Amino acid sequence: MPATWLTRELDISVPIVGAPMGGRAGGRLAGEVTRAGGIGLIGAARYNSAEWIDGEVRLAREIGGGPLGFGLMTWSLAEDDSLLTAVLAHRPQVVVLSFGDPAPYVDRVHEAGALVLSQINTIDDLRVVEAAGVDAVVAQGHEAGGHTGRIGTLPLVQEVLESTSLPVLAAGGIASGRGLAAVLAAGAEGAFVGTALLASPETVGPEYARTRLVEAASADTVYTDVFDKARHQPWPARWGGRALRNSFTDEWHGRDADEDTLARAYTADDPDIGVVYAGEAAGLVRAERPAGEIVREMAVQAEALLGRFR
Ligand SMILES: Cc1cc2nc3c(=O)[nH]c(=O)nc-3n(C[C@H](O)[C@H](O)[C@H](O)COP(=O)(O)O)c2cc1C
Repeated sequence: MPATWLTRELDISVPIVGAPMGGRAGGRLAGEVTRAGGIGLIGAARYNSAEWIDGEVRLAREIGGGPLGFGLMTWSLAEDDSLLTAVLAHRPQVVVLSFGDPAPYVDRVHEAGALVLSQINTIDDLRVVEAAGVDAVVAQGHEAGGHTGRIGTLPLVQEVLESTSLPVLAAGGIASGRGLAAVLAAGAEGAFVGTALLASPETVGPEYARTRLVEAASADTVYTDVFDKARHQPWPARWGGRALRNSFTDEWHGRDADEDTLARAYTADDPDIGVVYAGEAAGLVRAERPAGEIVREMAVQAEALLGRFR
């Protein structure tokens, strides 16, 4: 694989970041991505405790043994930054602060010895995180799984690459060596990979989340806020979440229903109602496969494709 800013900074062999995914990416997934040559990130959700973080870090380090990182939702740190304290105690190599202005937290992360990356969705976001002093930006496109913005990955990556001197990574819809080769050839330093890993046995979460993803096609996702409202998650209105459509979104997406109505109609235990966040790369996920195998295969395919014109 060609060396990039990311592989050099972290001394890794594959420019793939196992995306932080709250509720789905714990220590096992992160450890397997790191063991395969990338860097795995643990997604810390608002409801996770410091004890949960400690346990997941133990798992990740037992499996991966290499660099480790975390992703946090920046907007939620304003109400409670104890999760940041908890992750920094583990001396990670990377902390991803996304969805909000990271300025109040960047110095603390740097003092703990970690790089700060931020996922961004617009050029205005780029200016905010540049001013905050982050080390690299991740252009996250509309087709990404989970919470994201409204501009597609390809136009956003190109625009961000043209607009900053910071290292740029790409996120959203990258689920094979073809996608990885495309963003590296464009000038990105690496890729965040989320959806492609979500049917792996190493993910956290209900079995139906893996099964439904394998069954889903690329057209089966919806960008919506109904799951946030139903679960009383106070996400700022500008970020919707991309999830697999199901009976719940068929009934409630686009309707003017209040949080209590949605909460009464929602149950996480029912596979036709519970949320499965996933991106448009869902169509590329055709089986439950180990995460390490996916990362290694992406690297081999990307390398072959990047060599085509030499
Ligand atoms: C289930 C799920 C949960 C996510 N949770 C987070 C999160 O907690 N923090 C974050 O910064 N990004 C989160 N994301 C976004 C990912 O970090 C990443 O941008 C995305 O998965 C990349 O697009 P892809 O899914 O098409 O690979 C989540 C994505 C998914 C699919």
